[in-house]
Amino acid sequence: TRVLSIASECAPLVKTGGLADVAGALPAALGAQGVQMRTLLPGYPAVMDALHDRAEVAHFHDLFGGQAWILSGRAAGLDLVVIDAPHLYARAGSPYMAPDGRDWPDNPERFAALSWIGAHLGIHGVAGWHPQVLHGHDWQAGFVPQYLRQMGGGPATVLTIHNIAFTGSTDPGRVQSLRLDPWHFHPEGYEFYGGISALKSGLMGADALTTVSPTYAAELMTPEYGMGLDGVIRHRREALTGILNGIDADAWDPGADPAIRPYRDQEGKGANKAALRAEMGLPDTDGPLCVIVSRMSHQKGLDLVLEALLALLDHGGQLAVLGSGDPGLEQAFRQAADQNPHVAVRIGYDEGLSHRMIAGGDAILVPSRFEPCGLTQMYGLRYGTVPVVALTGGLADTVINASPAALARGAATGVQFSPVTAEALRGALTRLCQLYRDGDTWSRLVANGMSHPVGWDQSARAYAALYARLSTGR
Ligand code: ADP
Ligand code: GLC
Repeated sequence: TRVLSIASECAPLVKTGGLADVAGALPAALGAQGVQMRTLLPGYPAVMDALHDRAEVAHFHDLFGGQAWILSGRAAGLDLVVIDAPHLYARAGSPYMAPDGRDWPDNPERFAALSWIGAHLGIHGVAGWHPQVLHGHDWQAGFVPQYLRQMGGGPATVLTIHNIAFTGSTDPGRVQSLRLDPWHFHPEGYEFYGGISALKSGLMGADALTTVSPTYAAELMTPEYGMGLDGVIRHRREALTGILNGIDADAWDPGADPAIRPYRDQEGKGANKAALRAEMGLPDTDGPLCVIVSRMSHQKGLDLVLEALLALLDHGGQLAVLGSGDPGLEQAFRQAADQNPHVAVRIGYDEGLSHRMIAGGDAILVPSRFEPCGLTQMYGLRYGTVPVVALTGGLADTVINASPAALARGAATGVQFSPVTAEALRGALTRLCQLYRDGDTWSRLVANGMSHPVGWDQSARAYAALYARLSTGR
């Protein structure tokens, strides 16, 4: 099957979160299943700089306010189609924000353009290569089915929900600047609470919907997790499947990771733990060293860690944090580190340090209020770093709680807590410290985690089957 993946970020070229990891990993994972995938990306500076073997496949005099050249090419081992539209994408900062941290005011148009080109290429192909499926990610690709309809129809469409909290909503006055057919401004179309929502449009219009874990697929149908779109999801429940993310097994391989002292069993973690303590300025103790690598946002529940911190420290545990985001949280973690020698914090985004933290930690904390899939708990499993996670979304699907029964069966891989409160997290941290002190049990927990499958095999087969089903007869 030929598939055009349509994404607003893609590792290793541009990344703000797990969506980039997934968009970057899918082509190789699916290649092994006989799927030919190319990835359509906005021509951000980092993408333009990396693109080689370029060929121009189309030119537009006016793509949402300026000229655009559609280029095919390769970068970082990926087959790309890139929208070179300087008026939309030649900007410093992240894909979504100016350097001052504010969203670009024309984000609705910038990603409508991505969807527009996706639909166009779905119909006209890329220099003789004709995709049978257009697979979009999140709201940035939400208008693909709508534009396809406006252009007269084309290949099958899939929309993956990585995070329903971002709905790509804007005011109704933008119908024209977004080139939307005003006849579809109604609840069955792209209208959402009186405004326009790119995600809603895609959820209503795509032939198939997926999300990144089975548990999140079920959660999305509830008001608690659906963020106002649960009714839409229930309406389209027949079209929705949860397909768990995998991790990039080459980038995250403790046996061959150039950022760490490589190891294949838990003994090998010792040197990494010592190195991490030295790097973070943490003294020796006999409790578990817990790490966090995360965006600092309400979703991730990191405020609960601050509240529950003493349960860890009182049992001899330590905490090392790498993250950035919400200024209040950044400040609160800095303060916690100032006040306690057993807490260390690095504010920022640092790929290398993220590997050293996950290799050097005994446990990784992921106390998210909601988590569509989550990748770092899977890095933890592979690296023998026991995940302590909230019982929600993909965290529920990837970690097996160390209950007495699961321990006895030899299945347990981590610690789960519920509800997502500071009190329940305190209980989980206390449990973690007890498990850590029982050397044999701890070793089994670590070993179980390290052998738990976290790759793409099974999920790649699920995507390939979905594409095959959608493309038959097209
Ligand atoms: P989300 O996409 O919601 O942020 P995921 O767990 O799916 O959550 O993906 C987060 C990705 O971003 C992981 O690859 C993680 O290692 C990485 N990451 C998050 N924060 C940082 C940071 N401060 N430095 C380096 N990598 C980070
Ligand atoms: C989103 C979610 C995260 C998921 C990632 C990749 O950013 O917050 O849980 O792992 O997308 O699908």
